[in-house]
Amino acid sequence: MQSVSTKLLLLLSILNQYYLLATPSRVHSISPIPNEALPTKSGYLQVNSTTKSAMFYTFYEAKEPNLLLSETPILIWLQGGPGCSSMLGNFYELGPWRVVSSQGHNVEKLALEPNQGSWNRLFGLVFIDNPIGTGFSLATTTEEIPRDQQAVSKHLYKAIRAFIALESLFKTRPIYVTGESYAGKYVPAIGYYILKRNAGLPTSSQVNLVGVAIGNGLIDPITQVATHAMSAYFSGLVNEKQKTVLEKVQDEAIGLAKLGNWSVATDARSKVLNLLQNMTGLATLYDFRRSIPYEEDLVTTYLSSMEVKKALGANVSIDFEVCSDTVGKILHEDLMKSTKYMVEFLVKHTKVLLYQGEFDLRVGVVAAEAWMKKMKWDQIENFLEADRKVWKVKGKLAGYVQKWGSLSHAIVSNAGHLVPADQAVNSQAMIEDWVLNRGLFSDNGIVEHLNPSYNSE
Ligand SMILES: *[C@@H]1O[C@H](CO)[C@@H](O)[C@H](O)[C@H]1NC(C)=O
Ligand SMILES: *[C@@H]1O[C@H](CO)[C@@H](O)[C@H](O)[C@H]1NC(C)=O
Ligand SMILES: *[C@@H]1O[C@H](CO)[C@@H](O)[C@H](O)[C@H]1NC(C)=O
Ligand SMILES: *[C@@H]1O[C@H](CO)[C@@H](O)[C@H](O)[C@H]1NC(C)=O
Repeated sequence: MQSVSTKLLLLLSILNQYYLLATPSRVHSISPIPNEALPTKSGYLQVNSTTKSAMFYTFYEAKEPNLLLSETPILIWLQGGPGCSSMLGNFYELGPWRVVSSQGHNVEKLALEPNQGSWNRLFGLVFIDNPIGTGFSLATTTEEIPRDQQAVSKHLYKAIRAFIALESLFKTRPIYVTGESYAGKYVPAIGYYILKRNAGLPTSSQVNLVGVAIGNGLIDPITQVATHAMSAYFSGLVNEKQKTVLEKVQDEAIGLAKLGNWSVATDARSKVLNLLQNMTGLATLYDFRRSIPYEEDLVTTYLSSMEVKKALGANVSIDFEVCSDTVGKILHEDLMKSTKYMVEFLVKHTKVLLYQGEFDLRVGVVAAEAWMKKMKWDQIENFLEADRKVWKVKGKLAGYVQKWGSLSHAIVSNAGHLVPADQAVNSQAMIEDWVLNRGLFSDNGIVEHLNPSYNSE
């Protein structure tokens, strides 16, 4: 017969095991940022000297610049949302170091790991938390958070000017504005704003904008929303009856937007996506292959560490959220509005890259083709007639590129909505070739590279 104390020990051990299994949230251990992973510069760029509202940024200088630093391009990255932090791009997608998780005994360990495909190999790279109220950016009052793209651009322009003023060497460097998803609004809007401002300024005071690149961008929502049913149907994910149901709700969203009933139109678009989610039962519409959604929470958890916030020069009293509901709600009414006319302006005066991961069902390839076809640009017929070429990196299929003049369209293979998260090295090859007019992005589309050390095709 067992003694009472043995029974008690057994009971305790069972309870303990139960407790461990039932622990509701994982315990995290967060490694500090190693010195070599710290940004070259980071901190705040004021957007209003009265209210002191300011945008948070992290800047990483080019690791292996192949031009003089005064001529080395700078890429600005803007996250979508609306209201998502560019720290997601920084620490989960295209930055030089990314958060990775490893499992210890009942502890999830988060640490930074070098990213072989980071976009700051040849170029400077700056991530800006835009608009104010997003990520570590500071909105002194909620009323100051912008409600439309004109207001977003006003703030962003101030922040970009403040960034350029940080170093005399920044003044001459070519600037490319890049971003993803809802940044299909921000990127054309700030590009348009900069060019309009430049027109009234002497060259020495202009922002040296040379191009814009947009990944899986929401640009002309009325056209894009009309493609969900078709692209899901031809991907084999819904049947004809479901396609008809989706088309009905799509038409509702389009009708409401055409009436200028913007907020309700945004709700109708959400209804389309929710229906599609419900019908397909996918883990995420951002990539129909995935068995689990993208893990944005890794970044949230990593950036909740006091030590990490201090090291980045972020305001430690801000509770970091990867996406801000407050900003999302404030821009709800803006969501269905088009920035197509701004892209049309940019393609005439700068160069434009539109790229999409091929497995995104929310803002994917079919949706992009649909609105690009409707672009008002005297070269659009030539673009539509241009060949879509097979694009390879290190001899392997990387996607497809179609180019005419200042407009390039790239489809990235084996990627969903967050292209650099899925295809870091290929996305790096894409942005480098596009910026430097090389490979399939060169004017004559010659495939060979002049620089033998460069290994994409
Ligand atoms: C700064 O914010 C105040 C208060 O919201 C506003 O009245 C003012 O116009 C802003 N200044 C600039 C230059 O945008
Ligand atoms: C917007 O659409 C909704 C739903 O059809 C309708 O109830 C509402 O009155 C409309 N609002 C405006 C301002 O037209
Ligand atoms: C879809 O919605 C219906 C009705 O609300 C629900 O019964 C069903 O479980 C949902 N299916 C999925 C896959 O979410
Ligand atoms: C830091 O953020 C807090 C909370 O948002 C704010 O009240 C404070 O003014 C900020 N500090 C600085 C130096 O901007």
